[in-house]
Amino acid sequence: MPIDSALGALAFPLKLSSGTSDHSVLSPTLVVMVGLPARGKTSMAIKLARYLNWLGFPTRIFNAGQYRRESVKSYKSHELFAPTNEEGVNIRRHCARAALHDARWYLSEAGGKVAIFDATNTTRERRAMILELNQDWGCKVLFVESLCDDADVISANIKQVKLNNRDYSTFSRDAAMTDFRKRIECYEAAHEPLDENFDRKLSYIKVVDGGCHLIVNKLASHMQSKIAICLMSLRLCSRSVYLWQLEGDSGRPGSDSTRNWQFVEALAQYMHKEDAVKIGLPVWSGHHVSSSHVAQSLGLPVQHWCELDGVDMNDCILSSNEASQHFRDGFARREGPIHQTSKQENYGDVVRRLEPLVLELERQCGALVLCSEMELRILLAYFLDVGRDDVMHLKCAKHTVFKLTPTPYGCKMETVHLSLEPTNGHRTESMDIVWTAAGSPSARVSHFEDRQMSGTLCAEISSPLLAQVRCSLKVEPW
Ligand code: SIN
Repeated sequence: MPIDSALGALAFPLKLSSGTSDHSVLSPTLVVMVGLPARGKTSMAIKLARYLNWLGFPTRIFNAGQYRRESVKSYKSHELFAPTNEEGVNIRRHCARAALHDARWYLSEAGGKVAIFDATNTTRERRAMILELNQDWGCKVLFVESLCDDADVISANIKQVKLNNRDYSTFSRDAAMTDFRKRIECYEAAHEPLDENFDRKLSYIKVVDGGCHLIVNKLASHMQSKIAICLMSLRLCSRSVYLWQLEGDSGRPGSDSTRNWQFVEALAQYMHKEDAVKIGLPVWSGHHVSSSHVAQSLGLPVQHWCELDGVDMNDCILSSNEASQHFRDGFARREGPIHQTSKQENYGDVVRRLEPLVLELERQCGALVLCSEMELRILLAYFLDVGRDDVMHLKCAKHTVFKLTPTPYGCKMETVHLSLEPTNGHRTESMDIVWTAAGSPSARVSHFEDRQMSGTLCAEISSPLLAQVRCSLKVEPW
């Protein structure tokens, strides 16, 4: 978005679709992030956007820093952020207005349901400006404030994400660290957190210490409740989630069954190498006999989820033609076979069924999930931020562990192809997916732009937040 054209009056009146009123449970929502730099706002915004998009509510992030970097091409120092620097204050105010202008366009013209304005917004004056601009929009505003005083968490955040941003491309690491700390001090000088009395009429959620403690005030819609639920599940602990696709006859006698059981043994050995036994990593499975058998044979604590009962793995495997007849949306362009459920669920049904599981995966410190191919695809769609049209293009090879490790702005995926031949080892491919805090049209980067691959991991997938993918291939001895 050219910044200059977005300054001044906001051009688009917000058009709500017919039948939508201020009271609509799904009226467009502007989420306004609040908090000092390095308090995890962007990471929170990215997780929220990923969750809401996965649920089917189009969501995009509008990051003030990105607009400022477009406007001021070469960053000099923290002086830009000093409250006494009039020029700096003006630039930042104009950038905020430009981002809000685009957010408004997204909600009114581009089918967006939620726009997240990702900026510090640490002063009452700034928040009043946002509310004033919103007065004629008819859109609900929810403030999400991130509060954290833990010096270790703040330092880790600066090191992991802030030093890598474009502002510091010409700085040494030490100089960047010093400058960023001074930048925080500039904001601290004028910091006015949301206040229980002063802001009592506003809808807001305060997230303390990355989700340990939440204060929720005047939620005004179903969408805002969904947002609160997502934020309540966030945890700072590092974790890996493992996904394993079950085979139709793992629990039955017969020739193929023997081979499948050998892969289950290989899986048990792999999980052992990952220290799963030592850390007591749980296996999540449905109640069907086949999945329960596999779960119990792995030597890990088993937790049963009725959410994983959608598919009886002994059900038929359908051709793509049969599948498209059964699925009303989402899977229609599938090539090759697909497990079909006796319940004949469509994409949205499966997302809704798996939602509690996904929230719990965010809250827990890891799990191994035994699932069907369809569930695997939809869980990958969540972690990799893949849109429903692209879910069927994900390569979901059999006998493969999908190891997903969330990172502050994305997710690292390792696909580990298990082999039954002791001499072949198992092959691990890994891919770091980093989402930009973008959202502004100019900041969106073409998909897989920075890819350096030595093995093809999955078909090209499109995602509005996807900016950078790195792939490497390594072979480990078994
Ligand atoms: C930035 O320009 O990097 C952030 C602006 C803000 O959110 O205050």
